Amino acid sequence: MPSSMKARLDALTAEVLARIQAAETAAALELIEQTDLARKGELLGLMRGIKDLPPEDRAAFGQSVNQAKTSLEAAVAEAKQAFTTAAVVAATSDACFDPTEPGGSLPGGHLHPVTQVRREIEQIFMSLGFSVVDGPEMETEEFNFDLLNIPAHHPARDLQDTMWLEGGRVMRTHTSPVQLRAMREAGGKVPVRVIAPGRVFRNEQPDATHEHTFHQIEGLMLDEGVSVADLKGVLRLVLSRIFGGSVEVRLRPHYFPFVEPGFELDMRRTGSDGEWLEILGCGMVHPEVLRAGGLDPDVVSGFAFGMGLDRLTMMRFGIEDVRWMMSGDPRFLTQF
Ligand code: PHE
Repeated sequence: MPSSMKARLDALTAEVLARIQAAETAAALELIEQTDLARKGELLGLMRGIKDLPPEDRAAFGQSVNQAKTSLEAAVAEAKQAFTTAAVVAATSDACFDPTEPGGSLPGGHLHPVTQVRREIEQIFMSLGFSVVDGPEMETEEFNFDLLNIPAHHPARDLQDTMWLEGGRVMRTHTSPVQLRAMREAGGKVPVRVIAPGRVFRNEQPDATHEHTFHQIEGLMLDEGVSVADLKGVLRLVLSRIFGGSVEVRLRPHYFPFVEPGFELDMRRTGSDGEWLEILGCGMVHPEVLRAGGLDPDVVSGFAFGMGLDRLTMMRFGIEDVRWMMSGDPRFLTQF
């Protein structure tokens, strides 16, 4: 091998090594990597001279360059490690710090009680052939009110109750607009069997029983010949499963613009003569709403309901103040 190239390689290796040893910061080492040891650096540049060597010398020279590169890279890595170690030592030289002490484990989180109950209810409805669907939290006035047969002068549209956004949009005040979305999604076909859990928003000053943001589960079952008996049967079954054991339900007439007839549903444990608890609003989907959803009310009928998920969760766990639900307070959350 021509000694001049070998000599250049040795000299260069020694120079770079000296620079590595003289480096005072990790950044300086990185600079060496990016220049001296880079593909375009002088060291690897020597490779380009290989073609001028006699063929029998080429392999050996290539190997020498590679060895030099590997050993210099190792030197950089070692020097870097020394800086890291020095930094750790500096940071931990505090006499109270014992690096051999076993680490603590992070406390594991769990699902919010509302999520737990929501998932349970979803499972119950899925076992009955319902699917779980979703709708936007920011709705149009049309979907939140008009298509649900809520007239323009209805108090529900009041500024007092509704958080209005720009451009005729609202934060949905209930999950009922998903009824329309589901009907249209089904393209005029039945059966439709869906539930739509989600957040809803009202312009309320929070107190123990009111929040500006809470959760509902909307339900919709449409087919030919669905009756109030189906409504009562399905909801009784579902509530029995939610509360464990058998419950009885009763319907009280109530006005909701998008159902006819409309009811409030109360429940209590079968056989108890205790108080009836008001659980949800429901009714037979109004013909106007069916039409808005692209269905013929002379052929198709069905029921809809909307239950307050926070309220159910509170009953289930004996929680007294709805404001806890949105608080994110670990003193509350860790109890469930
Ligand atoms: N959307 C009604 C509410 O928020 C509840 C409801 C849903 C009533 C479906 C009847 C049918 O109060």
